[in-house]
Amino acid sequence: MAFSLPRLFNILLSLLSFLHQPLLSSANHYETKSLLRSLEIPEPDAIANEFISTSSNATPPTTFFEVTKPIQLPNTKPIKKLILLHDFGYTYGKPPVLAEYTPPSNSQSQRFEKIVLEWTATCKGRQFDRIFGVWLGGVEIFRSCTAEPRATGIVWTVHKDITRYYSLLMTNQTLAVFLGNIVDDTYTGIYHVNISMYFYPAEEKYGLGKLNVDNHVNGAADLILPISRNLPLNDGLWFQIQNSTDVKSKKFKIPQNAYRAMLEVYVSFHENDESWYTNFYNEYIATNNLTGTPGNGPFREVLVSLDSVVVGSVWPFTVVYTGGINPLLWRPITGIGSFDLPSYNIEMTPFLGNILDAKTHILEFRVTNALNVWFIDANLHLWLDKKGSKTEGKLTSLNVSLLSLSFASSFKGFDGTFSMNVSKTITSSGWVKSSYGTIITSATQRFNYTNFMVLGKEANKQIVNQTIDYHEKVIVQMPSSSQTIVESQKSFPLYLYTDIVDHGNGSYTAVSNVSLGLNANKEKKSDQGFAGSSLKNLQKAQGTMLVKGNLVVSGLGTTEQTYSYKDNTSCYFRNISSSNYSIIYDEVSTSCRERQKLHLPYGIGLHKI
Ligand SMILES: *[C@@H]1O[C@H](CO)[C@@H](O)[C@H](O)[C@H]1NC(C)=O
Ligand SMILES: *[C@@H]1O[C@H](CO)[C@@H](O)[C@H](O)[C@H]1NC(C)=O
Ligand SMILES: *[C@@H]1O[C@H](CO)[C@@H](O)[C@H](O)[C@H]1NC(C)=O
Ligand SMILES: *[C@@H]1O[C@H](CO)[C@@H](O)[C@H](O)[C@H]1NC(C)=O
Ligand SMILES: *[C@@H]1O[C@H](CO)[C@@H](O)[C@H](O)[C@H]1NC(C)=O
Ligand SMILES: *[C@@H]1O[C@H](CO)[C@@H](O)[C@H](O)[C@H]1NC(C)=O
Ligand SMILES: *[C@@H]1O[C@H](CO)[C@@H](O)[C@H](O)[C@H]1NC(C)=O
Ligand SMILES: *[C@@H]1O[C@H](CO)[C@@H](O)[C@H](O)[C@H]1NC(C)=O
Ligand SMILES: *[C@@H]1O[C@H](CO)[C@@H](O)[C@H](O)[C@H]1NC(C)=O
Ligand SMILES: *[C@@H]1O[C@H](CO)[C@@H](O)[C@H](O)[C@H]1NC(C)=O
Ligand SMILES: *[C@@H]1O[C@H](CO)[C@@H](O)[C@H](O)[C@H]1NC(C)=O
Ligand SMILES: *[C@@H]1O[C@H](CO)[C@@H](O)[C@H](O)[C@H]1NC(C)=O
Repeated sequence: MAFSLPRLFNILLSLLSFLHQPLLSSANHYETKSLLRSLEIPEPDAIANEFISTSSNATPPTTFFEVTKPIQLPNTKPIKKLILLHDFGYTYGKPPVLAEYTPPSNSQSQRFEKIVLEWTATCKGRQFDRIFGVWLGGVEIFRSCTAEPRATGIVWTVHKDITRYYSLLMTNQTLAVFLGNIVDDTYTGIYHVNISMYFYPAEEKYGLGKLNVDNHVNGAADLILPISRNLPLNDGLWFQIQNSTDVKSKKFKIPQNAYRAMLEVYVSFHENDESWYTNFYNEYIATNNLTGTPGNGPFREVLVSLDSVVVGSVWPFTVVYTGGINPLLWRPITGIGSFDLPSYNIEMTPFLGNILDAKTHILEFRVTNALNVWFIDANLHLWLDKKGSKTEGKLTSLNVSLLSLSFASSFKGFDGTFSMNVSKTITSSGWVKSSYGTIITSATQRFNYTNFMVLGKEANKQIVNQTIDYHEKVIVQMPSSSQTIVESQKSFPLYLYTDIVDHGNGSYTAVSNVSLGLNANKEKKSDQGFAGSSLKNLQKAQGTMLVKGNLVVSGLGTTEQTYSYKDNTSCYFRNISSSNYSIIYDEVSTSCRERQKLHLPYGIGLHKI
């Protein structure tokens, strides 16, 4: 090297590259993955367990889980269908596992009110956390991350409400599951996976047609087009976006009688961008001569274009995967969204007028400031005019604001502060004329982003405080001149503190504190009334780990989580904490009365008692 970096900084860089390059990356670039997160993370009782369990199978597997409200189910007996049983061993670079899907035999005569996907997996040994996806007819219905196993074994189950894919679920389809795993002498964990679906018939009182009563705003789409890669391929069906100039696209054509459209985007970030919110700036990199280090800064946005015109944006939630930051933080309570990654909806109805011409159009994805690699695909949900073969429409306005960006930094050598604020607004409106009359839709996406970063102790200490605020408003003007307004507000606060102490003997201790929140309010106002929901979900975690070379030699992780959900008909509250595989306390309540005492700060349109 032509210059010498402070040694601690080298360590920080290696930690950052661990933060940046990880586990999921392992699914794609096996040779470059960091070793850190794949270790058996030893903690006193586990070490003991590990020894005992080699000779006896007595230790039961640890159950991992993500804290989330239960799915509200009708009071009917579900039909259970086992969709796939598979052991994901050496699946990296191989085609997705396929299964022929058929709907329940009575799907012609029976309406289902809820359809729930159930993922259950077991794993034992040592393995990375792996990203995986489930597609039905090329439409992604579930994206998730595996839990990292331990020697005594783990088991976890995820339930996802997949009712919005109703039309697809009522037809024969090919199901594809891609989970790129690698098994060798070191990484021994094989994921044994069961996927089932539960079909809950509608309750008698609603009659057969319940799903379609409020067709325009609530009902599932009539047709869902996959905006993903086509089979066959030796990978997931997601597109891979490698840098900020990389554009991935898909051609599609819609039926000429669509009257409503919504694009659902699935997003996950890996390898060099797994922890994009901690990324440095070019300026910093240049000042400190850190040649070869990516300096794209901590801001990312996923841009969606239709025929080369930006129509919507996603500023993603900062999912921390199960091996992220300090793997011990996520056992057994996993990070928010890690077992069921959020997808993001973009209202497309205003743009229908541009694509109802029976011609081929193109949807494109790009990621501002991206580093290798982002996995992105989407589903185009379409509602069709059942009484007409042709609708018509027109985009009447589109305004995509430039990114409004302010940036400040003050550095002396390696230490100092960065601050960055970004905001953006996208508004669109258009009309669609169908046999239901002329419907005018206006959609607004508003985003704010703020990131404040501190580096200290010769860059051995990093603090990141970032918040993304998102506000979406969709106004639907019906022919009767009645209006439906759906407003959704989300905020994603993230605080990350990392301090590295070098022991001067080839090992260092990393202390990490994380606070990760996902808050969401939604309300819908129409002639029929007002309904709202509110979620406040917050994890606070602290951990230490002693790292030698690339190995975690010992460590400790503690996580506390509070989850408060309220809507017009239900409440769910949970207050839970874990420390190194053990649950410290776990309080659950579904009583709205008790919830009221909590004075939830994030609450508009809450259910009054
Ligand atoms: C769906 O698949 C089943 C089982 O293979 C078959 O009996 C049925 O005819 C198929 N339905 C259609 C519409 O192709
Ligand atoms: C998966 O399904 C098989 C067959 O029904 C069953 O034996 C096994 O216990 C299931 N595994 C899990 C983890 O539920
Ligand atoms: C960006 O990624 C694309 C796709 O992999 C590649 O062709 C291109 O060379 C990359 N550009 C830069 C500047 O690295
Ligand atoms: C960075 O490198 C340049 C050219 O090699 C050198 O002049 C400058 O002093 C270096 N800056 C630092 C902070 O090391
Ligand atoms: C577009 O939006 C920007 C910022 O939101 C606003 O200043 C501008 O007036 C808008 N332009 C039009 C044509 O509506
Ligand atoms: C970003 O916003 C925060 C809070 O509003 C403010 O304190 C900070 O100075 C802003 N930073 C920049 C670079 O504008
Ligand atoms: C993060 O920043 C926000 C506002 O910019 C502030 O209210 C909050 O206290 C900060 N969090 C921490 C842990 O410093
Ligand atoms: C963004 O910040 C501006 C100025 O503080 C505020 O008026 C706006 O409501 C914020 N938008 C969101 C989506 O939080
Ligand atoms: C290095 O030093 C730390 C702190 O004193 C100690 O905990 C660790 O065991 C030492 N590691 C080795 C390999 O000597
Ligand atoms: C990190 O967490 C530890 C343990 O809870 C706490 O003592 C410390 O004050 C925290 N530090 C910061 C900067 O949040
Ligand atoms: C969660 O439980 C802990 C331990 O009982 C308690 O200290 C804390 O106040 C509770 N938090 C909430 C929001 O109820
Ligand atoms: C939902 O709750 C809000 C606020 O309490 C209330 O105004 C509204 O009437 C409720 N809507 C329904 C459909 O129950």
